[in-house]
Amino acid sequence: MHFNKEYAKLISEQLNETLPLEEVENLIETPKHEKQGDLAFPCFILAKKWRKSPQHIAKELMGKLQSPLFEQIIAEGPYINAFLHKETVNQQVLKQIMEQGRDYGSWEFGNGKNTVIDFSSPNIAKPFSMGHLRSTVIGNALANIAEKCGFKTIRINHLGDWGTQFGKLIVAYKRWGSEEQVKRNPIKELLSLYVQFHTEAEKDQQLEEEARRWFKKLEDGDEEAQQLWLWFRKESLHEFTKIYDLLHVHFDSYHGEAFYNDKMEETVKKLIDLELLERSDGAQIVDLKEFDLPPCLIQKSDGATLYATRDLTAALYRYEQYHFEKAFYVVGQEQSLHFQQVFRVLEKMGYTWAKSMTHIPFGFILKNGKKMSTRKGKVVLLEAVIEEAIKLAKQNIEEKNPHLPMKDAVAHMVGVGAIIFHDLKHEKQNHIEFSLEEMLKFEGNTGPYVQYTYARACSILRKAEHTEWQESITGHIEPEGWAIVKQLMLFPTVIQTSFYRYEPSEIAKYLFQLAQNFNKYYAHVKILHNGPNQADRLALVKAITIVLEEGLHLLGIEAPKQM
Ligand code: ARG
Repeated sequence: MHFNKEYAKLISEQLNETLPLEEVENLIETPKHEKQGDLAFPCFILAKKWRKSPQHIAKELMGKLQSPLFEQIIAEGPYINAFLHKETVNQQVLKQIMEQGRDYGSWEFGNGKNTVIDFSSPNIAKPFSMGHLRSTVIGNALANIAEKCGFKTIRINHLGDWGTQFGKLIVAYKRWGSEEQVKRNPIKELLSLYVQFHTEAEKDQQLEEEARRWFKKLEDGDEEAQQLWLWFRKESLHEFTKIYDLLHVHFDSYHGEAFYNDKMEETVKKLIDLELLERSDGAQIVDLKEFDLPPCLIQKSDGATLYATRDLTAALYRYEQYHFEKAFYVVGQEQSLHFQQVFRVLEKMGYTWAKSMTHIPFGFILKNGKKMSTRKGKVVLLEAVIEEAIKLAKQNIEEKNPHLPMKDAVAHMVGVGAIIFHDLKHEKQNHIEFSLEEMLKFEGNTGPYVQYTYARACSILRKAEHTEWQESITGHIEPEGWAIVKQLMLFPTVIQTSFYRYEPSEIAKYLFQLAQNFNKYYAHVKILHNGPNQADRLALVKAITIVLEEGLHLLGIEAPKQM
């Protein structure tokens, strides 16, 4: 509901085209204190144009502004403050939400254009790290939000499945590995082979050379190398898929780094043709001094390509495939320099679309204040962490509601929801402390709290005897409900802001506040009381369930009807 627009129109009619309507709308503010009204228009700009004091203009205009949408419009200093007509607004907002259902809050500014989202992107033969978990959760939410704004999304898992480390892995496997052990516990076994390689290589210089030869063989399509690589990839992906299944995250493409192996020559050729490649210490680079950045390494002296070469090639391929309007890379902040370099090289190559690419960085996950790391055997097995969360959620449910049907399904929603919400409630650049106990609490700023509020609202609707209420919405709501209606009204704006800021936390914050407001309302008002305005109270509760469910869904969290 765009009451700002209505207010802007009303004012604009009195301005004799001094300001365009859009500008009037942009000037409208929300007053600091509720008693000052719901909307405020500052008269400073008009004062300049009309050479009168803003106070004077505010007084003058105030008498001319009248609309059934506003119960009062008054001048306060240089501002003209407007008080919305509560019944009218209540009725309009509730009816709109009832009509639109889960579509409420959707936008069309995406115009069906493509947004490519590169997220999760773990590395083959290495554990799925906490950083990859953040990327997965944030990327998935951003994709949902982009869709809600009218974009088509392409979700890409840019697997780390190429690079010299695969030469090392092949050597280690051939020397010390066993097929059975890899099959039994692929990631753990492959990681320990990789670690073993490094320990042994300190004693035996030959190993590095051997690894280089094997990676070269792999690049050249040697059969044995290819088969081993394919097998490592398959086993790893199988493990990662378990995590995606638990989180209900899907991808449209798993084209990882290896996919670009046979496409990089062309990228290098383009760079040569454009005279952008320079030799430096035997390697090929693109100079980026003009941007105050270190050079971007394209090819090593032995001809091997690098991470950046693959990202450049991937960008070219994606543009050709999808003609994206926007391209997001949801990757930890430690790769900021890399993405700046890649985007700048594309810019130097003359691709104007490079401007539509954005690196979306995020902070670390901490445990007792320290970065949770996957190096040196300190592996945190993510699948086990998620399963633990589900188990703890189940215990909580057993205590609270032992007779709940379908406990396992609900525990899954709550356990996973707790992890996701805990991540997304923070501004993404912040580091976050990982505590299962904290995130699973049913009280406070947690996923389970929002889910529980949703389930409580659903249960009220189930208990309502009056079922034909949709027709009798009048807009008469207790004063306690006004804050909620005003908040419900904001949902579309919150979605838009979260999209432009790449910040799902906007939605998480909003949902928590809405849940709090509803619980306050629930404590003060007898919702199912059979007196007047029951239809409006039920409509309000229904509207809350719609917005909570959709908001959670945008974050990638399911909403249980009972809990
Ligand atoms: N595999 C990389 C890592 O784990 C992340 C890849 C991100 N995406 C990209 N297009 N570079 O660090």
